Amino acid sequence: MPSGASTGSREAVELRDGDPSRFGGKGVLKAVGNVNGPIREALMGQDARQQARIDEIMLALDGTPNKATLGANAILGVSLAVCRAAAKAADLPLYEYLGGPGATRLPVPHLNIMNGGVHARWQGADFQEFMIAPHGAPNFREALRWASEIYQALRSVLMEAHLEVGVGDEGGFAPKVSSNHAPLEFICKGIEKAGFKPGVEVGIALDPASSEFHKDGKYHLHAENRQLSSEEMVSYYEKLVRDFPIGLIEDGLAEDDWNGWTMLNAKLGHLIELVGDDIFCTNPAIIAEGIQKHIANAALIKLNQIGSVSETIQAIKLCGKNGWGAFVSHRSGETVDSFIADLTVGLDCGHLKTGAPARGERVEKYNQLMRIEHHLGSAATYAGAHCYVRPIRG
Ligand code: PGA
Ligand code: ZN
Repeated sequence: MPSGASTGSREAVELRDGDPSRFGGKGVLKAVGNVNGPIREALMGQDARQQARIDEIMLALDGTPNKATLGANAILGVSLAVCRAAAKAADLPLYEYLGGPGATRLPVPHLNIMNGGVHARWQGADFQEFMIAPHGAPNFREALRWASEIYQALRSVLMEAHLEVGVGDEGGFAPKVSSNHAPLEFICKGIEKAGFKPGVEVGIALDPASSEFHKDGKYHLHAENRQLSSEEMVSYYEKLVRDFPIGLIEDGLAEDDWNGWTMLNAKLGHLIELVGDDIFCTNPAIIAEGIQKHIANAALIKLNQIGSVSETIQAIKLCGKNGWGAFVSHRSGETVDSFIADLTVGLDCGHLKTGAPARGERVEKYNQLMRIEHHLGSAATYAGAHCYVRPIRG
């Protein structure tokens, strides 16, 4: 199961053994025991094609709102395996089993090519993720080629500036920088160096993961040596959006700063996609509250934040019904499993983020999307400029 480093406080419980003599307390023998014990007993004889029923049985067996008894890692592992098994039994590719014959649209990949924050041990920028979105490409495969070329061009831009090119948790470069707009300047240079037009062909997306640097009501920008209020953060983003071709900001404000979010959405929500990650935790009930309070216009979708396939589908559908975007995501701690690639096409989410074009566990998702595109043949389409709830500004 995947695992995050910058987690929302309301995520479902990831059950770890806490035994300091094994894996520094991070062992999962209890979770595995729950799969082989009570979950197995409850599910034997059930029909794997009844995903909702299977998940319901596990939720009832767990009996808590946050999967604290059995562990979201135990429940999700089974939920995903059951889904795959049912697709296999139906002799369908996973994306088609999930989405039916209409599942033909490939997402715009968002590649996190510069890492900061906790993903780079606070050595680089405060903002956690700087992503490129090659929305102008004609298809997914080309989009991935563009992004890979930009990644390599960025590497040489950074080397020319005598910066480190070691990578962070999600494969992006993580050099020491003195501001949070410096990475944006490097990325624009990289896009141009690779022969593409920033904004017109390739956009930028940010995940500051700001809950990580929000303390005592202030946003602490260590790289810039200053502290900002929510209002000042909103102005900071307004300027960034004016200066750079940013089409999406995720977790611009902290998970407990709902008033700040309302302000941010009022200022920028008509212009760009504002995605809630830590604030919603892929939880349909919290997303519903966010929709009702107009605090964003999209939710991040991470299977392990909520802990079952059925609830993840509910979250995505809730977004769709309310004109919200659903941005599918990997975790900083990943496996080579590529379920999220099929999920994104199956549920027609239009965009996903799964790291830099580096490190096998990231690349595997992109490879699977290329396999899906190949399998669909001429029926495949590419979300391109329609990947967000707001039009690309160019
Ligand atoms: P995480 O980061 O997997 O470390 O939580 C990803 C994100 O914040 O989107
Ligand atoms: Zn995030």
